[in-house]
Amino acid sequence: MAKRIQAIRGMHDILPDQTPTWQHLEETVRSVLERYGYREIRTPILEMTELFKRSIGEVTDIVEKEMYTFEDRNGDSLTLRPEGTAGCVRACLEHGLIHNQAQRLWYRGPMFRHERPQKGRYRQFHQIGVEAFGMAGPDIDLEMILVTARLWRALELEGLELQLNTLGTPEERRSYREELVAYLRRNAARLDEDSRRRMETNPLRVLDSKNPDMAEVIADAPTLMAHLGEASRAHFEALTEGLAEAGVPFVVNPRLVRGLDYYSRTVFEWVTDRLGAQGTVCAGGRYDGLVEQLGGRPTPAVGFALGVERLVALIEEAGPSVEDRTRPQAYMVLMGEAAAQRGLVLAERLRERLPALKLQVNCGGGSFKAQFRKADRSGAVLALVLGEDELANGTVGIKWLRESREQEQVDQARLADRLGEILGEAR
Ligand code: HAM
Repeated sequence: MAKRIQAIRGMHDILPDQTPTWQHLEETVRSVLERYGYREIRTPILEMTELFKRSIGEVTDIVEKEMYTFEDRNGDSLTLRPEGTAGCVRACLEHGLIHNQAQRLWYRGPMFRHERPQKGRYRQFHQIGVEAFGMAGPDIDLEMILVTARLWRALELEGLELQLNTLGTPEERRSYREELVAYLRRNAARLDEDSRRRMETNPLRVLDSKNPDMAEVIADAPTLMAHLGEASRAHFEALTEGLAEAGVPFVVNPRLVRGLDYYSRTVFEWVTDRLGAQGTVCAGGRYDGLVEQLGGRPTPAVGFALGVERLVALIEEAGPSVEDRTRPQAYMVLMGEAAAQRGLVLAERLRERLPALKLQVNCGGGSFKAQFRKADRSGAVLALVLGEDELANGTVGIKWLRESREQEQVDQARLADRLGEILGEAR
């Protein structure tokens, strides 16, 4: 046998047993977002490398070491998107979607980061992202968080904690940066190599270090709060007041800086302790400077992204598995070639008459016994039997697979009506 080729490390197949949970999550999110007036946008998975360098920031883990970047046949440097915000902004600019108008958008799909794979952290993973453009006030920040809180309710997820921080404006960060760099220099001996380098190039990134040896030095670092101006302070206060009024509990975490450089003012993460080290299931914030950085007019913006794999893991952990809606209600057992052909035609007629019917037809022949075994495994409650006798007298046998009830013989012409009655009963 030829040697098998395996999937790429950190990139996973999502198998038919798992897709019902994915679909349940995707459909729930989509219906909640529709209720708030968010519209879907779809952008390419590949973008020019420059887009991510300019938006996420040159001195970030993502751009420095995690991007899947390659030259295509024309010599252009392309990158598999590590996140969705940059592409969304690019598309909006390219199509004039945010020129003098507000937009509420969402997207979903695979993202790619060459991280060290572990539980909850993959090299291909999926996000559902939400972005709002053209709204500068704390009201839209509040709406974003209310959307996420409603999502958890709709998904029946409990125990998630909202962490909140503000990163101020670029000017406020510059003033904070001086104090932070002075502190880091004084503590240079306690920093790891990465942080010593970043202390000079992008000191806020040091606060985002995941190295446990750095936890203490980060905990003692000065915070940005003291450097906030009046407007940033008022923005943050209005948001926290709004959350309190809406009854959404939160924790202010002054160390929350996020791994991407485009944020300003509000940042937030929803975290759980049920998933081990990778406990952030949703993260985002305001990024008022990004549109301009990518060549647009100054446009306030805010957004977040859900980590789909992590939410799926939480849903699976929380309770009994989501119903598999592809499970047939009825399985058609067919004996002989003539019945096989007749059966497929009959099945089409049934699907036509009963639009909600889920019917699987046995294909590929097999003995009665083998076909009934397949019927049983399919999860169907009924077997519809078409053998030689039925063909000869124009009937179909209805057999109950999950309860002891006598088989019925029904005229083929009456089968749809009878099935409708039975399944209506079952519902
Ligand atoms: P992010 O924090 O890099 O933000 O990613 C958002 C979420 O995606 C994370 O909280 C996590 O749940 C999930 N995630 C990230 N990396 C991985 C991975 N390697 N494996 C599994 N899940 C992962 C962003 O990407 C921003 N674009 C969010 C945003 C939208 N901010 C404003 N608008």
